Amino acid sequence: MLSAESAALVRATLPAVAGALDEITARFYGAMFRDRPELLDGLFNRANQASGAQRRALAGSIAAFASALLRNPDTRPDTLLSRIAHKHTSVGVTDDQYTIVHKYLFGAIAEVLGDAVTPEVAAAWDEVYWLMAGALIGQEARLCQEAGLRPGRVWRRWTVVERRTETPDVVSFLLRPADGEAAPRARAGQYVSVRVRMPDGVHQLRQYSLSSTPDGELRRITVKRVARRSDVPDDEVSDLLHAQVREGDELTLSAPAGDVVLDDPADATHPVVLVSAGIGCTPMTGMLAHLVATGSPRPVLVLHADRSPADHALRIETRDLVDRLPDARAVFWYERPGPAEPDARQGLMDLGGVRLPDDAAVFLCGPLPFMRAAREQLMRAGVPARRIRYEVFGPDLWQPGTAA
Ligand SMILES: Cc1cc2nc3c(=O)[nH]c(=O)nc-3n(C[C@H](O)[C@H](O)[C@H](O)COP(=O)(O)OP(=O)(O)OC[C@H]3O[C@@H](n4cnc5c(N)ncnc54)[C@H](O)[C@@H]3O)c2cc1C
Ligand code: HEM
Repeated sequence: MLSAESAALVRATLPAVAGALDEITARFYGAMFRDRPELLDGLFNRANQASGAQRRALAGSIAAFASALLRNPDTRPDTLLSRIAHKHTSVGVTDDQYTIVHKYLFGAIAEVLGDAVTPEVAAAWDEVYWLMAGALIGQEARLCQEAGLRPGRVWRRWTVVERRTETPDVVSFLLRPADGEAAPRARAGQYVSVRVRMPDGVHQLRQYSLSSTPDGELRRITVKRVARRSDVPDDEVSDLLHAQVREGDELTLSAPAGDVVLDDPADATHPVVLVSAGIGCTPMTGMLAHLVATGSPRPVLVLHADRSPADHALRIETRDLVDRLPDARAVFWYERPGPAEPDARQGLMDLGGVRLPDDAAVFLCGPLPFMRAAREQLMRAGVPARRIRYEVFGPDLWQPGTAA
């Protein structure tokens, strides 16, 4: 809980801090990576850093947390914290690193806001930071404990037992723990981080959703090769996985993480609606496979949009899984339909003519513009916002208050 004195000071300075967040975070990361370059090796995603995406995510989350505390000093915005805690766990953030971030973040705030940061103002924002950090550290410790991990010890080696080309752009890797031990517990909808050494020697992490059922000893990830851009360096992990990883090779994976999961006790008996576009199909296929593996009687509706049937990764598997469920159907939309899917609808996803089950748990994943459009259509069709869970394949810039 934020003290009354701190709340008054944070309220008075929030507009100044919020207005200068871009500059504060630019200085913060600049100084931190200058003094601690090892944090860019195997922890921070350098493409997110270069594009500014992660910077905005961190800055936005602290401002959102402070505003939420001011509105209601006794509660904490759990959805926001939970997503960050899961991401931190999947990249192996350790408790001591919160002190490093604190040092550089507060150094940057003092530099940018100058005299406005009196000792009292600094102490008030300190309180906000440590309330947030404390809540995150607590959640991260709990997640590690649940997964049987020591904090910071998230990495294991996995052997690629099968590599399968799904579409011209998409490859799946089926994986088994290389150490012969049991696979860690995972929940349908979760992701893992994959850690690879790039050609320049720097390690990079990227997250990939589990695209097969998490019920057995094997796990699968399904990776779309990101189109190269001529104006940025060639450091893509997806490119490296496509070009270099073959059957029999080993990959380093984190324990599973992610809070957009199918078996949330709050909606475990409700119908399920899975809405995706492009490579956003991966967590949906994992959830469908889990429903099949557990013999679920839940009504299921799969809605997917893609460029064409040939570009639709895991299409045949999705059809097969739907056929194996007692009460499931699928509707596909293609910009360029083809004979492989004669019943598919043409164009972008349009939920106008689709009957949605009442009181369903809805899962959404795909490019941000697609998710915004789909969410709007779902809400117009009467689905309450609290029933829609979404996974973003990048830093979440879609939190309340930051959505465009
Ligand atoms: C929870 C989660 C689950 C995910 N699940 C999947 C999944 O199941 N399947 C899947 O394929 N992907 C998934 N992703 C996305 C995946 O993690 C990677 O982001 C994706 O593979 C791209 O990584 P990359 O290293 O290949 O490209 P990056 O190097 O990260 O590049 C990404 C983009 O940034 C641009 N970029 C790179 N460097 C710069 C620069 N210097 N300046 C400006 N722009 C730059 C690139 O051109 C490219 O457009 C998931 C992401 C998350 C967060
Ligand atoms: C109170 C302090 C912190 C806050 C508010 C915070 C906030 C965030 C947010 C909002 C994200 C993006 C989550 C998403 O994917 O949507 C994130 C990711 C991340 N955070 Fe933190 N963070 C904090 C502390 C730390 C610390 C101490 C470290 C370690 C030095 C760290 C390392 C990372 C990394 C590596 C990622 C993933 C980056 C990426 O993939 O680009 N964070 N954090």
